[in-house]
Amino acid sequence: MSENLFLKAVHKKPVERTPIWIMRQAGRYLPEYRALREKHDFLTVCKTPELAAEVTLQPIRRFGFDAAILFSDILVIPEAMGQNLEFLADHGPKLSPPIRSQAELDDLRINTIEEKLQYVAEAIKLIRNELTEKTALIGFSGSPFTLAAYMIEGKPTRHFKYIKSMMYSQPQLLHNLLKKLTRAITDYLKLQIEAGAQAVQLFDTWGGILPLHLYDEFSANYLKKIAADLQSLGRPVILFSMGGPDHLSHLAGSLAQVLGVDWQTDLEQAKIVMHPEYALQGNLDPTVLYGSKEIITREVERLLKIFGKESGHIFNLGHGIPPDVPLENVEHLVQEVHCISSELRK
Ligand code: CP3
Repeated sequence: MSENLFLKAVHKKPVERTPIWIMRQAGRYLPEYRALREKHDFLTVCKTPELAAEVTLQPIRRFGFDAAILFSDILVIPEAMGQNLEFLADHGPKLSPPIRSQAELDDLRINTIEEKLQYVAEAIKLIRNELTEKTALIGFSGSPFTLAAYMIEGKPTRHFKYIKSMMYSQPQLLHNLLKKLTRAITDYLKLQIEAGAQAVQLFDTWGGILPLHLYDEFSANYLKKIAADLQSLGRPVILFSMGGPDHLSHLAGSLAQVLGVDWQTDLEQAKIVMHPEYALQGNLDPTVLYGSKEIITREVERLLKIFGKESGHIFNLGHGIPPDVPLENVEHLVQEVHCISSELRK
């Protein structure tokens, strides 16, 4: 089978240009997504394989990204485990009841994950049927710590009062939840891989709220366990933590193939520390997309020059794309990554 550019870069093979996809590439900045969302609410789109497949393919049709990412949400796992999930307009996700005791934790089920999340496997099969070999399909999950944060807080928060208090005063309770989530996430990612996902990404969105000396214990060790347990399936694992360079360095030694680099981290430094052991994915500051075309070109060039002709770089943003960036700037970004990287790699 001929490999696409994304998979070649994952395996640090030579490429004629740098592959690109962007986190949250299917979403509200696309008019075709907004049009579909006028007819269906967000969770209905996630749970209807035909709609999830359609939304996954929208950015591929428009921009020709080298990878598609399954359209879903990280919070479908807590819902499948038994928490009630709602997306309230302008308030973000709400999970109830929040998990704050061993009894509430015991009520969460993990043996029905595969059955409850069959709709995701169905969507993956539909998407894979529509994609050509040029485009890889990425599956994903939230990290144990990030899912635990939503499950314990119950709603978006700035201070993470409940999960951090639990971490200090009842660390064993938090570990019990993290262990349960680790098993659920591993099963869920296996389900995605068996359905046709060619790589999987773990979003450790809230890893950065952990003080560095506690990051291994409450997040990185669980990420490493999941990456290790998935190795026998032979599909690459991408670890993305929003925590800056120090947190990133704690992912050294994991059995993942790719590390996502957030926008706060210097890509050149990350490369010195983590490459060539890992391929690196990132890390344009998403707010650059609010700037002029000249600024976008300048930043793309700066990032691409860090790798130059070397393989093992996947271009991406350093976090998800904001919902209100001008479409023409995304078009310009893709065109510049294609153009500049082809030149540099001649
Ligand atoms: O990347 C993609 O295109 C795939 C789809 C995807 C979504 N969410 C769709 C979505 C992915 C990979 C996610 C992951 C996700 N979800 C994360 C981790 C990634 C990150 O950004 O750090 C997190 C923390 C969530 C939880 C979540 N989902 C929040 C906080 C919100 C509400 C805030 C917001 O952005 O509106 C969501 C909703 C959500 N997930 C939307 C989309 C397209 C918006 C829903 C809508 O259409 O109104």
